[in-house]
Amino acid sequence: MSDISFKDQVVIVTGAGGGLGRTYAMDIARRGGKVVVNDFGGTVEGLNGSRAMADEVVAEITAEGGVALASYDSVADSAGAANIVAMTIAEFGRVDALINNAGNMINSRFEDSRIEDLDAILAVHLKGTYQVSKAVWPYMKAQGYGRLVFTASSAGLFGNEMQSAYAAAKAGVVGLMNVLSHEGAAHGILCNAVMPNAMSRMADQMLASMKTDAASQQRMSENLERLAALGNSMAPEFNTGLAVYLASDRCSSTHALYSHCAGRVARVYIGVTEGWQGSRQQPTSAEDIADHFDAISVLPPGARAPGTPAQEFELVLAQMR
Ligand code: NAI
Repeated sequence: MSDISFKDQVVIVTGAGGGLGRTYAMDIARRGGKVVVNDFGGTVEGLNGSRAMADEVVAEITAEGGVALASYDSVADSAGAANIVAMTIAEFGRVDALINNAGNMINSRFEDSRIEDLDAILAVHLKGTYQVSKAVWPYMKAQGYGRLVFTASSAGLFGNEMQSAYAAAKAGVVGLMNVLSHEGAAHGILCNAVMPNAMSRMADQMLASMKTDAASQQRMSENLERLAALGNSMAPEFNTGLAVYLASDRCSSTHALYSHCAGRVARVYIGVTEGWQGSRQQPTSAEDIADHFDAISVLPPGARAPGTPAQEFELVLAQMR
């Protein structure tokens, strides 16, 4: 099978100044793509932006002989999101793929959460993904080709204590992916989402914020210890291949969500149980629901339905044994 190339292609990677996004940008540049390295350059919470993070990654790429352009706009800002794409077109004349990776994180128990934190999280993950995708959309539609990669999270899809705002935003990103994949199909625009797992500054802060929950902290650190014995699979680079494939012209997938967890890559899907068929003449009563609740809710044999990120790790570890 031939190598995946990004020659003559232009790719925007948001949040590419560190962590996962940096690895996507570096890999695409090594494959010949021109990369827009967007990063607001702030804290994990999304405060105090600076140019340094994007500049450093652009310097790394150019030092290797690649082509990259730094962008410092916040994806959460409407004018900023539009500017990321405007400067891409001004510099490179086209845009083939967009990896919406930028993210911030503010964790707290639900009762302690603040509406301004929810706003700040939704603004980066969901509104940011929406805005930058909307800005590239007319260019992709006109050229009949585009790749959109969104970043979800097991915290959002499975649920994780302390992360109500973050999880709501990440699940919202999947809803947006479901719709853009339908609307993009006729125009050659494929849209997929990833659920990465990597040690990064965000992951470090996430683990630290879980300290109030002794049981899940303990479970996660035990899993990380066991994973450490199994290799480097929590390094950001282990997630790179999935996002880069989905951003490439080799990708044929759309309307799908994929998880990378400790070297295991798998599709994550929303399915429906066989369920219970009620009457079509009489409305189903609450008692009918109670009487048939097992048939309604039981998952099919072999279904894997983790309820937390830690449970996904446990499934992967069980497969490795
Ligand atoms: P990170 O904190 O290293 O990377 C996020 C980047 O986004 C940072 O460089 C940050 O400056 C940038 N950013 C934040 N707000 C921005 C804004 N408004 N505009 C532009 N850039 C902005 O963390 P990591 O782990 O690399 O996360 C990358 C993505 O993957 C995030 O969306 C995160 O939520 C997601 N994710 C990460 C997981 C992990 O295990 N590390 C698990 C699941 C999802």
